[in-house]
Amino acid sequence: MADVEAAKRAAAQTAVANHYPKDARWVGIGSGSTIVYVVEAIKALGVDTSATRYVPTGYQSRQLVVGAGLTAVEFDALPAGTVLDVAFDGADEVDDDLNCIKGGGACLFQEKIVAMQAKEFICVADSRKLQSRLLTNWKYVPIEVAPMAAYRVLNKLKELGSVDPIIRTNLDPKEGPRKTDQDFFLIDAPFPIMLTQSDIVAGKVSGKDGAWEVNDLSKKIKEIVGVLEVGIFSGLTGPQASAAGGIGGQRPVA
Ligand code: A5P
Repeated sequence: MADVEAAKRAAAQTAVANHYPKDARWVGIGSGSTIVYVVEAIKALGVDTSATRYVPTGYQSRQLVVGAGLTAVEFDALPAGTVLDVAFDGADEVDDDLNCIKGGGACLFQEKIVAMQAKEFICVADSRKLQSRLLTNWKYVPIEVAPMAAYRVLNKLKELGSVDPIIRTNLDPKEGPRKTDQDFFLIDAPFPIMLTQSDIVAGKVSGKDGAWEVNDLSKKIKEIVGVLEVGIFSGLTGPQASAAGGIGGQRPVA
């Protein structure tokens, strides 16, 4: 456990040292346990943060920013046209193409909208999270859905090949479905190990026996009416370069 925390801290320090912009004006701050170390590392830089505004991705994230003495600005209060300098966030799993699974901690829609609004998305992940293909250790795709559509979405996911997708409950299931910051439900949808673009080039077929190429599955799930957002973060490795800080180093920026 102590090693895991040390690994998260090391990844966060690497990410901040390499990617926190000088004179940062707008910085996205994600959710989860690793991001705590990102904020710690930002504070440890000792830079003047008085003109910097930190954009949280949910309640926990906002508490973290405010608790660290930084100034939070909600996403919907950003001046029109604002592009964030950078957004930092954790991940549940990261593949060879730097695609991520996110949402294990019940945040994903706000994380994605903040990431998409940033010039650079920095995914901070310790080495446990790095797998050649998504859904290797992490077994399901988190999906944020409108409560009234949840059962319909479950059925549509089964048609895509998900075996036993479930509506996530609170730790005590008697307390009912887990709610997101939007008051939406989460569906956790297991799928077989996902394919990368290189698998497709090598001749594998997306969707065969439920094993989908990452972008394909993300798109298919997004098309289901009732889905707000999918916990697959892909395509952030182009102009919005993404990097995963691992123990003792960081993966190359794609
Ligand atoms: C929140 O729902 C997630 O997307 C988190 O960013 C992700 O689960 C990583 O969390 P940890 O840093 O706690 O592993």
